[in-house]
Amino acid sequence: MVADPRLAGTDQDKRRRHADVTPIRDGDVGRTGDMDAPRKLYVKSFGCQMNVYDSHRMADMLAKEGYVETSEAADADLVILNTCHIREKAAEKVYSELGRLRKSQQETGQKTVVAVAGCVAQAEGGEIMKRAPVVDLVVGPQSYHRLPELLAKVRGGERAIDTEFPLEDKFDHLPAPSLAATRKRGPAAFLTVQEGCDKFCTFCVVPYTRGAEVSRPVARILDEARRLADQGVRELTLIGQNVNAFHGAAPDGRTWSLPDLLYGLAEISGIGRLRYTTSHPRDMDDALIAAHRDLPQLMPYLHLPVQSGSDRVLHAMNRKHGRDLFFDIVDRMRAARPDMALSSDFIVGFPGETEAEFEETMDLIVRTGFASAFSFKYSPRPGTPAADHAAQVPESVKTERLHRLQAALEASKRAFDLSCVGRTFEVLLEKPGRQDGQLIGRSPYLQSVVVNDPPAGIGEFLTVTITAAGPNSLAGEPVSPRPKASARPLAALEA
Ligand code: SAH
Ligand code: SF4
Ligand code: F3S
Repeated sequence: MVADPRLAGTDQDKRRRHADVTPIRDGDVGRTGDMDAPRKLYVKSFGCQMNVYDSHRMADMLAKEGYVETSEAADADLVILNTCHIREKAAEKVYSELGRLRKSQQETGQKTVVAVAGCVAQAEGGEIMKRAPVVDLVVGPQSYHRLPELLAKVRGGERAIDTEFPLEDKFDHLPAPSLAATRKRGPAAFLTVQEGCDKFCTFCVVPYTRGAEVSRPVARILDEARRLADQGVRELTLIGQNVNAFHGAAPDGRTWSLPDLLYGLAEISGIGRLRYTTSHPRDMDDALIAAHRDLPQLMPYLHLPVQSGSDRVLHAMNRKHGRDLFFDIVDRMRAARPDMALSSDFIVGFPGETEAEFEETMDLIVRTGFASAFSFKYSPRPGTPAADHAAQVPESVKTERLHRLQAALEASKRAFDLSCVGRTFEVLLEKPGRQDGQLIGRSPYLQSVVVNDPPAGIGEFLTVTITAAGPNSLAGEPVSPRPKASARPLAALEA
């Protein structure tokens, strides 16, 4: 397959370099299955947004092969588990899920084709094949465009495994979603613009499972965004493991950075909101901060993982930034956009973390104020440098620190939610609520907002005043619908 010439010798080559998994092809256990139509597909996604996006693209690819999605594994002819390897618990879920599938196959006597995709497939595909005979197919995050060929092998009685980092770009081989598929996924969509990571934090598996940092060409991203907008998508979240390191080859011969791309996307009619995730503090630059000031479509919300508030721990993590850089970015962001809300990721109990160092993380939380956050106990991952560190923190200490940290983050989130009561802002209506006549939308700050009897439908923007803040959502009262010109309703698109 012809690779994008602009990437030849650079990103396309790099893609292979981080792969530490030797691919095994075409296993030895024979199997046949009744693959006649109608075929039903069940995809279960674990882990991050990158996997959610990939799951959609796998479903789009298999729709062309005659597969229709089902929400029941028991109903399916093909089950795909799109897995996550980031922490031990996440990776273990795969084996318990496979155990359940094997049991149900034994009970019903029905053979379902079982595929394992994603980061566990990439990291330990060979072991999965050995440990779990129920698995017919293993495919990594960079080779899932080959699913049709791999399934053909399975139909021929083979077990198939492909965890290569191929030279060709999988995106060139993935069909666009149908209108029905996009409608079902809702008016807020993910769009992968960058994959992989070159940072090598000492706790993290991503550089090994996803490979080297590669940015997609700008023209492809703009095409995909236009198609999604034409299908009724109103909000795009650009995703990448290091999205703010984006550097895509553009049709004008230049290399576009993330802010360049955001300005380009903001010109697409129908796209009312832009977001991006996940960013690294080292790659936050002035142009991106200025885009938050100048681009009304860019939401005032930044997910910026900091992991720890201690410079010594950050250094041991190989994060390549200290706490002061984080504070500096937050200050500059808030100067550019005073209503900027922040979110982050935290790890407690990194090897060697002392009580005083943990307190520095608590201090960072109080000083910054977060609208939301994810926090985790450090989980040693095979093949990463920190896993071999002698000074592992006892589980009981990690648990206790996580409780304290989460209490501080919860208080911070609650304070932010309460500060929204009485404010007026736009929500994008995304789905029905629990009660009749209710719709649920998202605030600029990613909060769920419940609106009773809104004068607008799913896929439309609505200005609301926040009347209350509950533990999981806000309540909003409509002020007035947004002028239709800036947000074409789905009905108009179908006409
Ligand atoms: N690219 C992003 C994060 C990717 S992984 C970044 O640079 O921050 C998502 C989050 O999982 C990380 O931010 C980190 O908080 C957490 N994580 C990664 N490896 C982990 C490990 N071994 N144990 C616990 N948490 C981990
Ligand atoms: Fe993992 Fe660090 Fe890369 Fe984020 S920047 S994906 S935490 S190695
Ligand atoms: Fe998990 Fe892979 Fe995402 S390890 S967090 S699914 S990049």
